[in-house]
Amino acid sequence: MTTLPIESQKTAQIRFTLNGEETDVFFASYKTLLEVLREDLGHTGTKHGCELGECGACAVLLDGKAVLSCLVLALECGGKQVLTVEKLHPLQDAFADLGAAQCGYCTPAILVTAKALLDQNPHPSRDQIREAISGNLCRCTGYLQIFEAVEAAVLKIAEQKNSGV
Ligand code: FES
Ligand code: FES
Repeated sequence: MTTLPIESQKTAQIRFTLNGEETDVFFASYKTLLEVLREDLGHTGTKHGCELGECGACAVLLDGKAVLSCLVLALECGGKQVLTVEKLHPLQDAFADLGAAQCGYCTPAILVTAKALLDQNPHPSRDQIREAISGNLCRCTGYLQIFEAVEAAVLKIAEQKNSGV
């Protein structure tokens, strides 16, 4: 069996919007969105965990909805909007301030999942936050700091809105 050089495996191409920017990418057609983001676009903020849809570390927003990028074929993403943790949001400051990111492995996925929640529901209850991130495993924080950080971000976003930022 002949192994093709990596570049010649890039037989697929899509154009999509990545963190607000129109982006063209060539890649091997079998790749997942997670692999294309990390390996072909150098966006390593999105983490690589189980690749089985179980740990939640790879979550990104696809057309505003949190998805597990290890389970999405990149070929399915043509014309869509993808948002990753590289796009800054007040949630990130709150996570840093409140110790909601410790080893940080789960953090990118939890941030984008929390952003999807706040986009849909700007004032979630603690139970709604818990439910929203229930698919994201965190082995470090015990989750309390994460819930508090999401609640702190809610206040911060409201303050920014009131001050016209
Ligand atoms: S890498 Fe674990 S759910 Fe995608
Ligand atoms: S901060 Fe380490 S797994 Fe969540």
